[in-house]
Amino acid sequence: MENAVCLVLDVDDVVQGYASARVESDEIPILHIVNLAVDSGVRRSGYGKMLLRKILERGLDAGCEWAYLEVHTTNLAAIRLYQKAGFKIFRKRSYYYEDGSDAYEMGASIEESFKSLGRRECP
Ligand SMILES: CC(C)(COP(=O)(O)OP(=O)(O)OC[C@H]1O[C@@H](n2cnc3c(N)ncnc32)[C@H](O)[C@@H]1OP(=O)(O)O)[C@@H](O)C(=O)NCCC(=O)NCCS
Repeated sequence: MENAVCLVLDVDDVVQGYASARVESDEIPILHIVNLAVDSGVRRSGYGKMLLRKILERGLDAGCEWAYLEVHTTNLAAIRLYQKAGFKIFRKRSYYYEDGSDAYEMGASIEESFKSLGRRECP
Protein backbone atom coordinates (compact mmCIF):
# COMPACT_ATOMS: atom_id res chain seq x y z
CA MET A 1 0.00 0.00 0.00
CA GLU A 2 1.34 3.45 -0.86
CA ASN A 3 -0.44 6.33 0.87
CA ALA A 4 -3.89 5.33 -0.26
CA VAL A 5 -5.79 2.23 -1.28
CA CYS A 6 -9.12 1.53 -2.88
CA LEU A 7 -10.53 -2.01 -2.87
CA VAL A 8 -13.32 -3.08 -5.17
CA LEU A 9 -15.66 -5.96 -4.32
CA ASP A 10 -16.35 -8.01 -7.42
CA VAL A 11 -19.01 -10.71 -7.18
CA ASP A 12 -19.44 -12.73 -10.38
CA ASP A 13 -17.97 -9.86 -12.42
CA VAL A 14 -20.31 -7.29 -10.94
CA VAL A 15 -18.99 -4.50 -8.72
CA GLN A 16 -20.90 -4.82 -5.46
CA GLY A 17 -18.91 -2.64 -3.11
CA TYR A 18 -15.73 -0.77 -2.37
CA ALA A 19 -13.58 0.51 0.44
CA SER A 20 -10.96 3.22 0.48
CA ALA A 21 -8.43 4.38 3.02
CA ARG A 22 -5.26 6.37 3.35
CA VAL A 23 -2.30 6.25 5.65
CA GLU A 24 -1.90 9.44 7.63
CA SER A 25 1.47 9.90 9.12
CA ASP A 26 2.21 12.48 11.75
CA GLU A 27 4.50 10.73 14.19
CA ILE A 28 3.08 7.25 13.76
CA PRO A 29 1.21 5.95 10.72
CA ILE A 30 -2.52 5.56 11.23
CA LEU A 31 -5.10 4.21 8.81
CA HIS A 32 -7.96 6.56 7.96
CA ILE A 33 -10.85 4.62 6.45
CA VAL A 34 -12.48 7.11 4.12
CA ASN A 35 -15.27 5.10 2.52
CA LEU A 36 -16.85 1.67 2.66
CA ALA A 37 -20.04 0.69 0.90
CA VAL A 38 -21.84 -2.44 -0.23
CA ASP A 39 -24.59 -2.47 -2.84
CA SER A 40 -28.04 -2.52 -1.25
CA GLY A 41 -28.92 -5.76 -3.08
CA VAL A 42 -26.22 -7.79 -1.31
CA ARG A 43 -26.11 -6.26 2.16
CA ARG A 44 -26.18 -8.42 5.30
CA SER A 45 -24.17 -11.11 3.54
CA GLY A 46 -20.86 -10.41 5.25
CA TYR A 47 -19.33 -8.32 2.48
CA GLY A 48 -19.04 -5.18 4.60
CA LYS A 49 -17.12 -7.13 7.22
CA MET A 50 -14.94 -8.68 4.54
CA LEU A 51 -14.09 -5.30 2.97
CA LEU A 52 -13.30 -3.89 6.40
CA ARG A 53 -11.02 -6.80 7.21
CA LYS A 54 -9.21 -6.48 3.87
CA ILE A 55 -8.61 -2.75 4.21
CA LEU A 56 -7.39 -3.22 7.79
CA GLU A 57 -4.97 -5.88 6.52
CA ARG A 58 -3.62 -3.40 4.00
CA GLY A 59 -3.19 -0.83 6.76
CA LEU A 60 -1.33 -3.31 8.93
CA ASP A 61 0.95 -4.15 5.99
CA ALA A 62 1.66 -0.42 5.66
CA GLY A 63 2.79 -0.27 9.30
CA CYS A 64 -0.40 1.08 10.89
CA GLU A 65 -1.39 -0.17 14.34
CA TRP A 66 -4.53 1.95 14.58
CA ALA A 67 -7.43 2.79 12.32
CA TYR A 68 -10.11 5.43 12.53
CA LEU A 69 -13.05 6.72 10.54
CA GLU A 70 -15.99 9.09 10.65
CA VAL A 71 -19.54 7.83 10.43
CA HIS A 72 -22.85 9.65 10.35
CA THR A 73 -24.39 9.55 13.84
CA THR A 74 -27.64 8.16 12.39
CA ASN A 75 -25.99 5.42 10.31
CA LEU A 76 -26.80 2.52 12.61
CA ALA A 77 -25.88 -0.21 10.12
CA ALA A 78 -22.35 1.15 9.74
CA ILE A 79 -21.96 1.90 13.44
CA ARG A 80 -22.96 -1.70 14.27
CA LEU A 81 -20.55 -3.05 11.68
CA TYR A 82 -17.65 -1.04 13.12
CA GLN A 83 -18.60 -1.89 16.70
CA LYS A 84 -18.66 -5.54 15.73
CA ALA A 85 -15.14 -5.03 14.47
CA GLY A 86 -14.06 -3.61 17.82
CA PHE A 87 -14.23 0.07 16.90
CA LYS A 88 -15.17 2.46 19.69
CA ILE A 89 -16.71 5.90 19.47
CA PHE A 90 -14.05 8.41 20.51
CA ARG A 91 -15.98 11.62 20.01
CA LYS A 92 -18.81 13.31 18.22
CA ARG A 93 -17.90 15.84 15.56
CA SER A 94 -20.72 18.36 15.25
CA TYR A 95 -21.54 19.81 11.80
CA TYR A 96 -19.00 17.45 10.25
CA TYR A 97 -20.84 16.95 6.97
CA GLU A 98 -21.67 19.59 4.40
CA ASP A 99 -25.37 19.47 5.26
CA GLY A 100 -24.53 20.30 8.88
CA SER A 101 -25.13 16.81 10.24
CA ASP A 102 -22.91 15.18 12.83
CA ALA A 103 -20.37 12.38 12.72
CA TYR A 104 -18.92 10.02 15.25
CA GLU A 105 -15.21 9.45 15.10
CA MET A 106 -14.55 5.77 15.75
CA GLY A 107 -11.23 4.03 16.16
CA ALA A 108 -9.65 0.70 16.93
CA SER A 109 -6.38 -1.11 17.30
CA ILE A 110 -6.12 -3.14 14.09
CA GLU A 111 -4.93 -6.25 15.94
CA GLU A 112 -7.83 -5.99 18.39
CA SER A 113 -10.18 -5.49 15.49
CA PHE A 114 -9.02 -8.75 13.88
CA LYS A 115 -9.78 -10.53 17.17
CA SER A 116 -13.28 -9.07 17.21
CA LEU A 117 -13.86 -9.99 13.58
CA GLY A 118 -12.94 -13.60 14.26
CA ARG A 119 -11.53 -16.00 11.77
CA ARG A 120 -11.25 -15.17 8.11
CA GLU A 121 -14.36 -15.90 6.17
CA CYS A 122 -15.31 -15.26 2.59
CA PRO A 123 -19.06 -15.08 1.92
C1 LIG B 1 -22.62 -0.33 6.37
C2 LIG B 1 -22.53 -1.33 5.21
C3 LIG B 1 -21.21 -1.17 4.50
C4 LIG B 1 -22.62 -2.75 5.84
O1 LIG B 1 -22.41 -3.68 4.78
P1 LIG B 1 -22.97 -5.18 4.85
O2 LIG B 1 -22.32 -5.95 3.76
O3 LIG B 1 -24.44 -5.18 4.91
O4 LIG B 1 -22.40 -5.64 6.28
P2 LIG B 1 -22.22 -7.14 6.78
O5 LIG B 1 -23.19 -8.04 6.12
O6 LIG B 1 -20.78 -7.50 6.70
O7 LIG B 1 -22.66 -6.96 8.29
C5 LIG B 1 -21.73 -7.06 9.37
C6 LIG B 1 -22.43 -6.63 10.64
O8 LIG B 1 -22.78 -5.24 10.58
C7 LIG B 1 -24.00 -5.03 11.29
N1 LIG B 1 -25.02 -4.53 10.36
C8 LIG B 1 -24.93 -4.45 9.00
N2 LIG B 1 -26.07 -3.92 8.50
C9 LIG B 1 -26.88 -3.68 9.55
C10 LIG B 1 -28.19 -3.14 9.67
N3 LIG B 1 -28.88 -2.74 8.60
N4 LIG B 1 -28.71 -2.99 10.91
C11 LIG B 1 -28.03 -3.39 12.01
N5 LIG B 1 -26.77 -3.91 11.96
C12 LIG B 1 -26.22 -4.06 10.74
C13 LIG B 1 -24.41 -6.37 11.87
O9 LIG B 1 -23.84 -6.48 13.15
C14 LIG B 1 -23.76 -7.33 10.90
O10 LIG B 1 -23.54 -8.59 11.41
P3 LIG B 1 -24.72 -9.70 11.31
O11 LIG B 1 -25.23 -9.68 9.90
O12 LIG B 1 -23.99 -10.96 11.69
O13 LIG B 1 -25.75 -9.28 12.30
C15 LIG B 1 -23.75 -1.17 4.24
O14 LIG B 1 -24.94 -1.09 4.99
C16 LIG B 1 -23.64 0.05 3.35
O15 LIG B 1 -23.02 0.03 2.29
N6 LIG B 1 -24.28 1.17 3.74
C17 LIG B 1 -24.27 2.38 2.92
C18 LIG B 1 -22.89 3.02 2.87
C19 LIG B 1 -22.40 3.37 4.24
O16 LIG B 1 -23.17 3.87 5.08
N7 LIG B 1 -21.09 3.16 4.48
C20 LIG B 1 -20.47 3.48 5.72
C21 LIG B 1 -19.83 4.82 5.62
S1 LIG B 1 -18.91 5.20 7.10
